[in-house]
Amino acid sequence: MRQWARACVAAGASVSLGWLAGCNGEHGAGDDAARVAAEQEVEPFDPALTRNLPPGVTAESAQQGRELYAVCATCHGPDARGTQLGPSLREQEWLHIDGSYEEIQRIVREGVAEPEEFPVPMPPDGGGAFTEQQLRNVSAYVFALSRP
Ligand code: HEC
Repeated sequence: MRQWARACVAAGASVSLGWLAGCNGEHGAGDDAARVAAEQEVEPFDPALTRNLPPGVTAESAQQGRELYAVCATCHGPDARGTQLGPSLREQEWLHIDGSYEEIQRIVREGVAEPEEFPVPMPPDGGGAFTEQQLRNVSAYVFALSRP
């Protein structure tokens, strides 16, 4: 994979040959972005986030949510500012939901089978298999992140 990517970059920089079109095709961005993100850490828990938690959610729950968020980071980025595979979760502008804690839980539970702007669907639980409590915790973390 690494070799292939480097060959593409080198060849693309010198001449553009027809057969290299594959470099931008199935072997392209998606795989690479996923690999890069998987190697990244989720950003540290910012204590200021506890001000933004939904009612009844403790700081401990939100911190557990941050650890669970690692599964989301592949697409939404380690800092939740988005990647080529998924939107930023920090813009207060939502494609599918109103941004409430309930709606965040709903979309995480269901996933997004038909994305509006991104190439790959979001699987239910973001691909993690969450318990009800874990789902609430990761959603609370996202809720807090999404607030200014
Ligand atoms: C495989 C990539 C992928 C993973 C993993 C993933 N998502 Fe998503 N997520 C998406 C895509 C794609 C969308 C929809 C974007 C669109 O419609 O264009 C989305 C949408 C969302 C939305 C709604 C955004 C909006 O603007 O309405 C939330 C909230 C969300 N994801 C949270 C999460 C959380 C939390 C996790 C981890 C538990 C997660 N996602 C894991 C790709 C992913």
